[in-house]
Amino acid sequence: MRIGVLTAGGDAPGLNAAIRGLGQMAFREGHELIGIANGWAGLAGEFSGRALHPEDLSGVVGQGGTILGTARYDLDRPAGGRERVLRTINDHLDALVAIGGDGTQRISNWLADRGAPIVGVPKTLDNDLVGTDYCIGFDTAVSIVAESLDRLYTTAASHHRVMVVETMGRATGWVAAMGGLAGGADLIVIPEFPITLDQIIAHLVKRRNSNNAFSIVVVAEGINLETLGGVEAGGVPTDGIGGVRLATRGVGQFVAAQIDAHGGFEVRTTVLGHLQRGGSPTAYDRIWATRVGAAAYDAVVAERFGMIPVVRGSQVELAPLAAVAHGQRQVPRELYDLCAAFF
Ligand code: F6P
Repeated sequence: MRIGVLTAGGDAPGLNAAIRGLGQMAFREGHELIGIANGWAGLAGEFSGRALHPEDLSGVVGQGGTILGTARYDLDRPAGGRERVLRTINDHLDALVAIGGDGTQRISNWLADRGAPIVGVPKTLDNDLVGTDYCIGFDTAVSIVAESLDRLYTTAASHHRVMVVETMGRATGWVAAMGGLAGGADLIVIPEFPITLDQIIAHLVKRRNSNNAFSIVVVAEGINLETLGGVEAGGVPTDGIGGVRLATRGVGQFVAAQIDAHGGFEVRTTVLGHLQRGGSPTAYDRIWATRVGAAAYDAVVAERFGMIPVVRGSQVELAPLAAVAHGQRQVPRELYDLCAAFF
């Protein structure tokens, strides 16, 4: 079989481990692996596929980013991109494995509905794909947030400051909540459980009155500014597929400025940004990315197209693409309450 593989949307640590997991299984059984460059862009225009060989996958398990390149590529503007991708798949490949988040899996699902031999693989450091307990990149992002908080803790404590730390995560608060829990945050503000500015200040005052002269406040990039008394600016820049570039809203800076304006606190802001996406994956991401990559191979040879390997508990299972392509998995109440028990 000629099995194509692409990575689409934002990169995430662990993508190469998944490509390697898929490829290693395919090579063992004599199949071809065709690497598609730059996500859907590599199928919408001239076919960008090139044969990968075992040596291309050697040494990549611990390498961040994606050896295939990726892109946020809009197949609908101008219209007709999806149809071109469908034709290219039918002309050049026997199967395609599409590694990506909800946007990627929505397109995969559309293609599968039209007969394309597609299998997905769940990737997003935002961890917001429904129907799976694991998404490639999330564990590494959480580890980076936790390590950053450890580092900010010593300087915050030395200077008796409030450190506001902005994390990625889009519309959900997984990275902020789990990174904050692991790093001992003193307050975590996420979209799922909005709090007001008065509640933030009251919490910091309470901490100061109980001899905690410093605080670390983690805010998720997707929190609603209006809940905090801010104004959502119009004309926020968007990315290649029309998604709002949340980091440009500056929510960390906004929260810090409000705390500063209250008086009585010395405040600094750290925006962790793309540090959360770069560099080497954790062992956990390497192992699970390998497992879902290998499971995607099993699905391909079994011709279980229109499916995606997901993790439930400690098992990899197959789910229909349609089941993960819509909606967002949110941080549940009990997990946020656990975080809040340490505020
Ligand atoms: O979806 C992953 C993510 O890292 C989000 O957390 C973040 O908002 C976005 O991508 C940033 O995208 P870009 O690299 O295109 O600016």
